[in-house]
Amino acid sequence: MIDLDQVRAEALDSIAGAANLEGLEQLRVALLGKKGSVTALMKSLGEMSPDERRTTGQQLNAVKEAVAQALDARKTALDASALDERLARERVDVTLSVRPEMQGRIHPISQTIDEVVAIFGQMGFAVAEGPDIEDDFHNFTALNFPPEHPARLMHDTFFLPEKEDGSRFLLRTHTSPVQVRTMLKQPPPIRVIIPGRTYRCDSDMTHTPMFHQVEGLVIDKATNMGHLKGCLIEFVKTYFEVDDVPVRFRPSFFPFTEPSAEVDIGCSRAGGELKIGAGADWLEILGCGMVHPNVLKNCGIDPDEYQGFAFGMGIERIAMLKYGIPDLRTFFDSDLRWLRHYGFLPLDVPTLTGGLTR
Ligand code: DAH
Repeated sequence: MIDLDQVRAEALDSIAGAANLEGLEQLRVALLGKKGSVTALMKSLGEMSPDERRTTGQQLNAVKEAVAQALDARKTALDASALDERLARERVDVTLSVRPEMQGRIHPISQTIDEVVAIFGQMGFAVAEGPDIEDDFHNFTALNFPPEHPARLMHDTFFLPEKEDGSRFLLRTHTSPVQVRTMLKQPPPIRVIIPGRTYRCDSDMTHTPMFHQVEGLVIDKATNMGHLKGCLIEFVKTYFEVDDVPVRFRPSFFPFTEPSAEVDIGCSRAGGELKIGAGADWLEILGCGMVHPNVLKNCGIDPDEYQGFAFGMGIERIAMLKYGIPDLRTFFDSDLRWLRHYGFLPLDVPTLTGGLTR
């Protein structure tokens, strides 16, 4: 006759001694599995007399129950310690500083666009975009370029092959066509800024066939030249991070604005080093003006009710001036050493509160 108390004591002992979940599972199979020792004892009940079977059966059931409970309890305990161990192993110290070996850099053009958008965004401008491939209407006609006007030629336009109707698509020569698209799409008041790629068939020290511009457009009932000046002076000071930079508005001509002006900022070139701020020299940085009534009309806006201003500037140019980048063409060389030198850390997103550049 088997000593069931001993069977139970030994089983509970080995369960208590199981060091890990795999060991415990092996024990479960060895005790309660199909060929397990407790299962074998249960099977032996069949060969007993009815009386013996009743008493031994009850005792065996109790043993089986106790073993099952002990297995469960041990499993819960081992699960918990496995989790503790894993949590300790995978712990992350969130107070550690960011790894210093960050390699990627933000290109100065992206950085400059982000800065310009941050500044005008603060003034309440929304960002608008348009296609790089344009048609004559949006790039020229709607902007009040008469058909044979020499200003069209000055734009050195890239044309796409002629279509069946004789017209040709073109690569936009400036971001101004997005002014037209915005006015055709949304009723005034309008306050948008439009960064994007532009193209001209020109390539030398100071020109690349693809470059970037940012355009601004404000249309409302009483918007005037004073608003234009205030807005741009504020922009220049914030962008160049120089409080007392002199700003000069010089009369100029663009078909789509009347009156038109070019904006110069003060600088000094003493000792061969260019410095933005009060000095003996001036640097041209952008074009602007009051939107021409013809342009408003072409875009379905009544010039007797609405007026506004627009401006446009070259991103590369203002980036070169601010960051002392001497050669325009290097922007597009994809030279990683250049990018490491002139690029910006990805997490230093420019904001007016946190600082444009750090
Ligand atoms: N589109 C002009 C250019 O590419 C720049 C410009 C000048 C834009 C005056 C304007 C503006 O919106 O008002 O030369």
